[in-house]
Amino acid sequence: MQTLAWMTRPMPFMERARARYGDMFTVRIAQEGTWVFLSDPEAVKEVFTARPGVLHAGEANAVLRPWLGDNSVLLLDGPQHLAQRKLLLPPFHGERMQRYGEVMAEIAREEVATWPTGRPLKLWPRMQKVTLEVIVRTIFGDDEDAARLDNLRARLRDAAELTTQPRVMLQMAARGPDHLGRSRGFRTRMAPVDAAVYDVIDARRAQGDLSGRDDILSLLLQARHEDGSPMGDQELRDELMTILIAGHETTATALSWAIERLLRLPGGMARLREGDEDYVDAVVKETLRLRPVLPIVVRQVKQPIRVGGVDFAPGVTLAPCIHLVHRRPDVYPQPARFRPERFLERPAGTYTWLPFGGGVRRCLGAAFAQFEMKTILRVVAQERRLEATTPAAEPVRRRAITLTPGRGTEVIASPA
Ligand code: HEM
Repeated sequence: MQTLAWMTRPMPFMERARARYGDMFTVRIAQEGTWVFLSDPEAVKEVFTARPGVLHAGEANAVLRPWLGDNSVLLLDGPQHLAQRKLLLPPFHGERMQRYGEVMAEIAREEVATWPTGRPLKLWPRMQKVTLEVIVRTIFGDDEDAARLDNLRARLRDAAELTTQPRVMLQMAARGPDHLGRSRGFRTRMAPVDAAVYDVIDARRAQGDLSGRDDILSLLLQARHEDGSPMGDQELRDELMTILIAGHETTATALSWAIERLLRLPGGMARLREGDEDYVDAVVKETLRLRPVLPIVVRQVKQPIRVGGVDFAPGVTLAPCIHLVHRRPDVYPQPARFRPERFLERPAGTYTWLPFGGGVRRCLGAAFAQFEMKTILRVVAQERRLEATTPAAEPVRRRAITLTPGRGTEVIASPA
């Protein structure tokens, strides 16, 4: 019953459990075992600052293994995880990221120009297209062969679709991710994706001198492990898939929520259009507070640890609960209200604003995603007038592991 409630109605389920049991409660999830949800910022801090080796996140993300592969930074732990993280960090460095701004805006403008006028339009799939294009061009560069990228985009969409197929998810729930990853049906569906990624890697390698390039693939091809060795093909494939999958649906969903919420805030869109940098930033922060894309992060206990005054033994999973921390009335008065100004009045706290998780596992793309959201929101506000198709808020719907707007952010657009 708990697994079912968690899968189908996660938000009311978490809220009811907190009302009944307080800031720390236990949930038993099929295939996953015992999860302890935490929503006291002090307890969250204890988790995010735990000594190395005590908590593992990689193992707990094993559901993603069939898609991402064994080398993915999301799935590794301990020294191996830190080594991969070090290789992946440079491309996401602030200054480098700013250079992608113009490309992001251009992609958004091209997409917005195709929006029909005067009839209902679902923005979520449109945002998916934009963020996929942004991540593809950032990873592979602006000048990659168009046919090769078209093929890759189509194959990636197929791979992402697999997560929404009841048969695949049922197989995952019944027999676990490793069984799914090895199954012939799944491998047959993934093979073309892998082939498309290897094709791009091979072509870039063959190009020779990469020193002048700043796309992520070229940077990773030049990166070196501590022992001086370059990244292998499978390793590159796994990290590129990780960035592609971790980086585009999440950002598209957050963007869709930003617009869904702004359209129901009187004057919200108009203020966004004015372009005040701090307000745009506050909109992004408040969206990710009220509608976090992922409701929890998870850590498996590997060595005994005390959190929130309770001793936990190996085997338990600790789940800092993003959704419940973000709904604390002592930190966020009137927590259910969408009010961007709260982040103009008070900065986001490390252990009270956690849409990107925390500690050594904090999202590698956090700065990238916020920068991208701000860039795209500005373009949308400048290029189009939008109104919601109904005044009622869109319900929160789970799509695989993300929480998305139930009607796909339905709007009616007209010229600005
Ligand atoms: C609004 C958009 C996004 C949200 C809400 C989001 C959220 C998250 C969360 C909650 C985690 C887990 C953190 C933890 O366990 O403490 C994570 C990890 C990660 N994210 Fe994101 N993310 C977003 C965008 C991106 C983008 C754009 C990229 C890449 C371009 C990215 C790459 C990653 C990677 C590589 C990790 C694994 C980090 C590690 O395990 O060390 N994410 N993200």
